[in-house]
Amino acid sequence: MTETVSYRRDGDIGIVCIDNPPVNALSHSVRSGLMAALEQSSADDSRALVVHCAGRTFIAGADITEFGKPPREPILGEVLARLDAHDKLTVAAVHGTALGGGLETALCCHYRCALPSAKVGLPEVKLGLLPGAGGTQRTPRLTGLETALELITSGNPMPAPRAADAGLVDKVIEGDDLLAGALAYTRELLDGEAPLRRASELPLQLDDAGRELLATARERLARRTRGENAPQRIVDCLEAAATLPFDEGLRRERELFMACMEDPQSGALRHMFFAEREAAKVQGLPRDTATQPVDTVGIIGAGTMGGGIAMCFANAGIPVTLIDMSDEGLERGLGLIRKNYATSVKRGKLSQDKADAALALIGGSTDYAALAEVDLVVEAVFESLELKQDVFRQLDGICKPQAILATNTSYQDVNAIAGVTSRPQQVLGMHFFSPANVMKLLEVVRADASSDTILATAMAVAKRIGKVPVLAGVCYGFIGNRMLRHYQREAQLCLIEGATPAQIDGAMERWGMAMGPLAVGDLAGLDIGYKARQGLTTEQKGDPRSYRVPDLLVEQGRLGQKSGQGYYQYDPETRKRSDDPAVMAIVEAAAEELGVERRAISDDEIISRLTTALINEGAHILEEGIAQRPGDIDVVYAYGYGFPRHRGGPMHLADHLGTGAMYETVCRYRDTLSADNWQPSELLAKLAAEGKTFAEWQRER
Ligand code: 3HC
Ligand code: NAI
Repeated sequence: MTETVSYRRDGDIGIVCIDNPPVNALSHSVRSGLMAALEQSSADDSRALVVHCAGRTFIAGADITEFGKPPREPILGEVLARLDAHDKLTVAAVHGTALGGGLETALCCHYRCALPSAKVGLPEVKLGLLPGAGGTQRTPRLTGLETALELITSGNPMPAPRAADAGLVDKVIEGDDLLAGALAYTRELLDGEAPLRRASELPLQLDDAGRELLATARERLARRTRGENAPQRIVDCLEAAATLPFDEGLRRERELFMACMEDPQSGALRHMFFAEREAAKVQGLPRDTATQPVDTVGIIGAGTMGGGIAMCFANAGIPVTLIDMSDEGLERGLGLIRKNYATSVKRGKLSQDKADAALALIGGSTDYAALAEVDLVVEAVFESLELKQDVFRQLDGICKPQAILATNTSYQDVNAIAGVTSRPQQVLGMHFFSPANVMKLLEVVRADASSDTILATAMAVAKRIGKVPVLAGVCYGFIGNRMLRHYQREAQLCLIEGATPAQIDGAMERWGMAMGPLAVGDLAGLDIGYKARQGLTTEQKGDPRSYRVPDLLVEQGRLGQKSGQGYYQYDPETRKRSDDPAVMAIVEAAAEELGVERRAISDDEIISRLTTALINEGAHILEEGIAQRPGDIDVVYAYGYGFPRHRGGPMHLADHLGTGAMYETVCRYRDTLSADNWQPSELLAKLAAEGKTFAEWQRER
């Protein structure tokens, strides 16, 4: 047929096999091949057609790399219309994942069988799209509106056995020979004279319960997906499925799919899809760089971070030895871990068996000697360079020579830590984010001497424990926290210059941040920054207007959520925040003390100052080579700091708004706000002058 699609016969059954590695995406040659196979099947004397795939998965969807390019015929809609109308019985045989256009292909077959390990899903919403090849019209006809709504608006895949209960899969094939099982199932259907059951011909109506379901979904999604367009358009499509004849519903789906395709939100989300995969690659390191086995892990410091990190490894089946200074410290840490697992079980997020299995993998000790044989150590003691150096000296004496020694430090110099050991090539940073068992981001910090093998190993281990790894170079705060200082500085300056906490947080949250900057401060505890500032010189602390208010809050016992008040007052039961006039009195007093004249500040100014601060510092980080690529910075911000994915991260945002416009804004802030705070990045200036985006700069390097 084509280089990716073949057709053969097994007796009276035709078999079309798609073989388009790595994930059998519906590229042009697959679409053409499928069309040709359908013609062949119609023309020969076969009685049925089985659609299956070679390699690790069924079709994982449309080929995302073809998006944005001129469409090449046959387009997917034509191929699937032809499949839907096929005059012989068709059966899809699913293994791995049938996603997006892949599931839509399966839905155009008359019947679907799957291995129990297979998953089916419509993840388009995660790319800012909707299923655009009949998925929104056929799914509810098979499952009913409620399941379709959940499947398509969440984008989460469904295991085959559940899909069978929901009506999406007709038969689960036991054993591991899918094709043999699919052929036997097809023969069963032929022998039983099963009808050509087309999903497009099944009835669907909108009753009062359905109307209510859709109305509630619109409201819930508006709250949950803040500003994203695709989820609302999906509800429109489902409404069309239940109120219009199939062909008209399909046309409506096409229109809304095209609207999504042209929406910058989808451009941003597709950028994030590729950026996340790219970030896992270390430039200059071949894909087949050898890695070391990591079968056991030691963690030093059973505090907030150490406990969470221990859970990450245990959840992935890797045994952990947790070390703290004293029995009390260790017991406190282990107790917290047990409590966290119990909460997960209570909330239905984890089964008791899985929690027990993970807990059984976590052992504790107060003796570093217990780490003699571990493959990887992650240090998470207090944030002090001297203490960390002392710990690394001890580890150097105790751990086996090939063990990887990692520090979870947020700010310390990883080179200075590696330098106290006799094996700096075995030392790097593994910077987790709090809560470590939940947050997906992991900054892997490359020190001057870190070997290729340990970098490749750290990236691979990160994936194994379900993290999204990003490589960073050594500097104060690495990628994420270094940029955050500038973002938080502008939040503080907006506050003292005239805004209220609610205005700042509200503006950023409506714009899409998961949580506003001041609310984040209250959550983390204002005392943490306060203590950190005590160790800094006046020069290191930066603009005094940017920390006077939090200093005063802490000095008045307002530590944030943990003390019931910080920038806000917190309800002890619900933790809901409310405005507190006492805070505004503090802000006004600080402004007066520092000679700041308060003025009205617009939401637009807040958003512009905070996001431009991130972009300018991101550009500095790129020109210094601290981050490998602009997309890596975007991944850090989306996964570590709640930056809205549908805006694509700070550097993608800069490209969207234009590097020229961004540079002008930075210069304007330098001239009108503060020359110290706003030093334009040379890279940003260069791209502005050349009229180039960060993405273009990256491609040309
Ligand atoms: N198109 C093009 N390339 C794709 C792709 C797709 N749909 N899905 C994955 N790839 C590529 C990845 O970019 C990666 O390339 P790389 O090795 O060069 O970095 C490679 O395939 C392997 O992907 P992963 O690293 O993600 O492999 P995993 O095994 O971890 O995951 C997967 C496999 C679950 C299939 C995952 O890749 C995935 O979720 N893919 C996206 C699925 C999707 O969103 N489908 C819907 C597309 S939109 C659509 O179908 C529109 C339709 O309704 C009209
Ligand atoms: P923490 O104060 O909650 O825990 C530190 C633990 O280390 C305590 O249990 C303490 O008893 C133990 N400890 C101290 N010295 C020790 C020693 N010599 N040997 C063994 N155990 C020792 O601190 P937290 O918040 O867990 O931070 C730990 C590290 O992680 C710090 O470097 C911090 O910068 C970093 N980090 C913290 C994040 C956070 O949000 N809390 C986020 C990312 C990194």
